[in-house]
Amino acid sequence: MEDSENFKIVAFLCNWCTYAAADLAGTGRLIYPPNVRTVRIMCSGSLDPMYVVKAFLEGADGVLVGGCALGDCHYTSGNYKARRKVAVLREVLDAVGIEKDRLWLRWISASESGLFSETIQQMTKAIKAMGPTLVQGRMIL
Ligand code: FES
Repeated sequence: MEDSENFKIVAFLCNWCTYAAADLAGTGRLIYPPNVRTVRIMCSGSLDPMYVVKAFLEGADGVLVGGCALGDCHYTSGNYKARRKVAVLREVLDAVGIEKDRLWLRWISASESGLFSETIQQMTKAIKAMGPTLVQGRMIL
């Protein structure tokens, strides 16, 4: 886990599900790499794509968007909107030189602290395998 400290993952987490799972993982003392920085948003559907772009521009090596399972969004259809936004964003990022696999979307409900922990571990491993982003000076946005 020591190697993961050089990698930065920014996680935009829905208040009602994935953020609660992250909170539960903390109170449950589940272990996951410390390189994730969480940003609480009210719903995955409220994610402004520019937040993701800005995270990469400011040095993130990976971005996770976490929301409620499809059908469980507290705002009815926000996670469907998130799914569409992330699909487009992945293509746009890839076109400007940021591998699409650096942007993850996962549905993690409030009780799934173990899944949150596993997701961060898997993502850290995957990002580490890809290496750091080389965004500075390469973006053509
Ligand atoms: Fe969680 Fe919409 S409230 S994804």
